[in-house]
Amino acid sequence: MDKFRITGGRSLKGRISISGAKNSALPCMAAALLTAETVTLHNIPYVRDIITQRRLLEDIGATVLTPELRTHKISASHIELFEAPYELVKTMRASVLALGPLLARFGKAKVSLPGGCAIGTRPIDLHLAGFQQLGAEVKLEAGNVVARAPKDGRLRGADVHFEKSTVTGTENLMMAASLARGRTTLYNAAREPEIADLAELLNKMGARIRGAGTPTIQIEGVEALGGAEHTIIPDRIETGTFIVAAAITKSELEIKDCRPEHSATLIAKLREVGVEIKELNQSTLHVAGAGKLAGSDVTTEPHPGFPTDMQAQYMTLMTQAEGRAAVTETVFENRFMHTSELQRMGARIHIDGRTATVEGAARLTGAPVLASDLRASASLVLAGLVAEGETMIHRVYHIDRGYERIEAKLQSVGADIERIRDSVTASLSQTAEPDAG
Ligand code: EPZ
Repeated sequence: MDKFRITGGRSLKGRISISGAKNSALPCMAAALLTAETVTLHNIPYVRDIITQRRLLEDIGATVLTPELRTHKISASHIELFEAPYELVKTMRASVLALGPLLARFGKAKVSLPGGCAIGTRPIDLHLAGFQQLGAEVKLEAGNVVARAPKDGRLRGADVHFEKSTVTGTENLMMAASLARGRTTLYNAAREPEIADLAELLNKMGARIRGAGTPTIQIEGVEALGGAEHTIIPDRIETGTFIVAAAITKSELEIKDCRPEHSATLIAKLREVGVEIKELNQSTLHVAGAGKLAGSDVTTEPHPGFPTDMQAQYMTLMTQAEGRAAVTETVFENRFMHTSELQRMGARIHIDGRTATVEGAARLTGAPVLASDLRASASLVLAGLVAEGETMIHRVYHIDRGYERIEAKLQSVGADIERIRDSVTASLSQTAEPDAG
């Protein structure tokens, strides 16, 4: 398995361009299953999860053409299989996003029930309860969710109250309801920017969705959906990761092709702890990390709260801040896997239940460390950039799942980082690894 070798202590300088958002591209690709016409998506990130999603679509009979690396032309005119098999779902939970579109368009779907992952049990009970409210019969058979629409083959609109805010749950129900008979209202819906981006695509396909991005989404079902062309929003978590890279190395970086408005809470928090962040325009940020960092508590919450996908990176930053910072994780029950690796590099972190308290500022030293999930591995890259000496990060396939060539982007602004390829397997083809969230 590939590794990253990083020698820390260098300051960074220059410009980094942000790729499209993985967590928007995945549901937008699934949405193409709702129509027999072609859906063209631009600004698709070149990351492993997208390759897995593409494989899922092709396995069930869709064609995916890539006239350019970041443009996918998807046509689901001849779907033969209505299932997402265990082999794929175990490598990527987001495969469950095929459930809503298949059920809504074909009246049936079979998806392997995703197991737990490194960051939590992550059930999909709220997705399934929502489909039942839209009239579907949902059964669990041999580890698979088997769902069937009512006799006439069409779901029917209904009020769905999510007990808890769920991102892919909201996306799955929004897609299913867009072809249901009548009106659906989703209450306590998730408000992440990726949901509004998916709704924008669906409305271009002829759906009638209002309120995406707010807690209440209304969907008037239509008979059929058509093709469309759409550009995926920039990745706000990749943006946040590079802001922290500049701050932790006390560097100046320009981050372009991003969308600052999607990271307002994160940017406000980082400014509060002493990071200078200027919005040069609607798609460019200037970060100057020269100042002293002050420890400050944070609690993760659904959007527009502090994003859980930035918790590990923020914790690493707090290891370099003066004073103490309590980091509380409320979205996932087991998302502190990175702390033991940071402690091995010299960080002072104490965990008590869902709160990790970081005593800053610590002198980090390079060490061999193990990536456990996507965002934990990003936090180890950040620690390696500031640590004295050499850090070797193992299992970087986790990071390839959601960051497009992160080592090349960091090298381009002066970081001393390289990928050490495993001679046996080429990196992006390592799709067989179980999903670690
Ligand atoms: C999405 O996961 C993202 N993934 C995650 O990003 C992100 O961490 C998460 O939202 C929260 O922001 C994609 O968009 C592909 P949830 P999702 O359903 O939809 C519980 C990354 O790093 N829950 O909003 O799976 C659940 O266990 C990944 O890019 C239920 O109990 O997350 C969790 O505690 C990691 N029952 C909470 O709700 C359900 O049916 C929020 O989960 C659904 C969720």
